Amino acid sequence: MRFTGKNAVVTGGASGIGKATALRLAEEGAQVWIGDIDEAGGREIADMSNGKIHFLRTDVMQAGDIQAIMHAVDSAGGLDVVFNNAGAGGSRDPIDKIRPDDWDRTLALLLRSVALGIRYAAPLMIARRERGGGGGAIVNTASIAALQTGAAPTAYSVAKAGVLHLTKMAAADLSRYDIRVNAVCPGFITTNIFTSALGIEGEKLAQANGAINHIAAKAQPLQRAGRAEDIAAAVAYLASADASFVTGTHITVDGGMTIGPRHSWDADVPSLFSSLEAFAG
Ligand code: NAI
Repeated sequence: MRFTGKNAVVTGGASGIGKATALRLAEEGAQVWIGDIDEAGGREIADMSNGKIHFLRTDVMQAGDIQAIMHAVDSAGGLDVVFNNAGAGGSRDPIDKIRPDDWDRTLALLLRSVALGIRYAAPLMIARRERGGGGGAIVNTASIAALQTGAAPTAYSVAKAGVLHLTKMAAADLSRYDIRVNAVCPGFITTNIFTSALGIEGEKLAQANGAINHIAAKAQPLQRAGRAEDIAAAVAYLASADASFVTGTHITVDGGMTIGPRHSWDADVPSLFSSLEAFAG
């Protein structure tokens, strides 16, 4: 019960990683406000939560919406935790084809939204601290795509790399107010992010998720599909007092995907040395 008496905002909380995190924080005692454009999904979670989770329609592309949810939670008793997490795949185009508008939209959804989440949460946390309250904890969703190529398209990966550096800059700016800012870098996690852009729904969604789970289980050294709950556990740690001396950094939760090249951990993929064995005397 690390969040008893705490209030949290979770953007993108109607699905996937955000939903699992909202449930985890609520389970550990927090009052949680989900900010999402998916009204049906967000309200369903709130309705099933026995008053622990609330929904406020929030489009993170809109600065006013982000400001509104931060103020709503501050007015409801103070803002303790913010999880800037909402997102989608964005443009899939390579750098030689992407249109300026698609670049802007992807960066706005994945990077500007996080900057504005911090921008509007921090002054409220600072003001409360000046009134004698505690500091705050902000966690941002980056990705292993921030750390290496090959995990996601170009605009998405650049935005997520920006989230990591933004996390450090914000931590530097805000540590004097006892506000910690950290990020989580998920690996391959089975959520709707892969299917929603393709419009896959209903029965086909269950089938597609089965196929994704099958691929995901073999995508990294730890041989099981990554779950939203794996990310929620890391976010809960970073947001909690257990991480009170942790700021400006990130936790990678990827089943080992970023350890190194596939041949270093997958015995079925030949390395240079195993390939040369055929020539050895
Ligand atoms: P998801 O599709 O299950 O959840 C994303 C949520 O964000 C949805 O509820 C959606 O309605 C909401 N959302 C989208 N645009 C929004 C907007 N403009 N305003 C407010 N809410 C909006 O996907 P998932 O996987 O849970 O994604 C969460 C975060 O995790 C994203 O930032 C994503 O880039 C990141 N991530 C996901 C990985 C994965 O393998 N699933 C890997 C690395 C990072």
